[in-house]
Amino acid sequence: MRTCLVTGAAGFVGSHLSEQLIARGHRVVGVDAFIPYYPRALKEQNLAGLRRSDRFRFVEADLRRDDLPPLLADVEVVFHLAAQAGLVRSWSEFDSYMTCNIQVTQRLLDATVKSPVGHFLHISTSSVYGRFATGDETTPLAPISPYGITKLAAEHLVQAYGANHGLPTTILRLFSVYGPRQRPDMGYHIFIRSLLEGRTITVDGDGSDSRSNTFVKDCAEGLIRAFEQPEQSMGQVFNIGGGEEVNVNQVLEILQELTGKQAQIAHGPARAGDQRRTVADIGKARRLLGYAPQTTIVDGLAAQLAWQGK
Ligand SMILES: NC(=O)c1ccc[n+]([C@@H]2O[C@H](COP(=O)([O-])OP(=O)(O)OC[C@H]3O[C@@H](n4cnc5c(N)ncnc54)[C@H](O)[C@@H]3O)[C@@H](O)[C@H]2O)c1
Repeated sequence: MRTCLVTGAAGFVGSHLSEQLIARGHRVVGVDAFIPYYPRALKEQNLAGLRRSDRFRFVEADLRRDDLPPLLADVEVVFHLAAQAGLVRSWSEFDSYMTCNIQVTQRLLDATVKSPVGHFLHISTSSVYGRFATGDETTPLAPISPYGITKLAAEHLVQAYGANHGLPTTILRLFSVYGPRQRPDMGYHIFIRSLLEGRTITVDGDGSDSRSNTFVKDCAEGLIRAFEQPEQSMGQVFNIGGGEEVNVNQVLEILQELTGKQAQIAHGPARAGDQRRTVADIGKARRLLGYAPQTTIVDGLAAQLAWQGK
């Protein structure tokens, strides 16, 4: 049993990761500031099951300003997920992206150097690649949104602390995560909500943008595999994505079949900073970590639909 700090534990991915760590017999210290990007009530629901476990301890703290050393006491491993996610608002609310994504990462790295941990796993994004995210981890990094730029800056900080202070690090780049508890600003969440409520679904662009969607439980499994096999993962960067590529039009068809409802679809302009195509090349994670996503897009969307429809 190891004690893990999970930052952003009340969020979408962080809450699933914490649950799966606990199911694997580990202890989790979860930290979150309930940044009001989406309602606190939803994040409290994400935490509800965790709060019942005696191997989970929750600390409400803002990593931009609160004292970090007490959070790290007895912690052996850090999973750093806390971030201001979502690219759209990064054009207009840059301060929040700069502080939550860059400053927070630097403060946490500085604290972990002073209170050493065995492994710092940093959660990054396919957005660091730019408009097309279709290659392996050596693909040139050219983010096209302020969000992606702050996440890339955070990666560079992780690498600088690793190289200069001997901090054992791993960077995991996630590709479009979906499933129960998906953030309410994310595409599939909006599509499902609109479909269930009989409202028009606005698709940005012509619907041909494609994603290598990652079911959230598969995603958490990938992160845990990196943590449980440090000899394979330390000093490495991994893409963590799903196995299938689907475009927006195909997702809407699946959702209509699953619900038996006819969607009303309108097309709007493509959004600034949106990626055109992401296809996770997960060869390295497969090879070194034995990572193999299990969930088909149909099963994953059905699970998200069941959660949103409840
Ligand atoms: N969801 C995806 O598809 C996706 C894709 C690629 C990468 N990621 C990355 O995964 C991570 C988790 O994303 P998510 O979708 O679960 O987002 P989320 O918004 O649901 O979770 C992030 C959590 O971090 C917390 N947080 C932010 N700033 C904080 C601060 N200063 N102090 C303490 N807590 C703070 C927020 O309150 C939130 O609960 C992020 O690093 C994100 O960049 C997510």
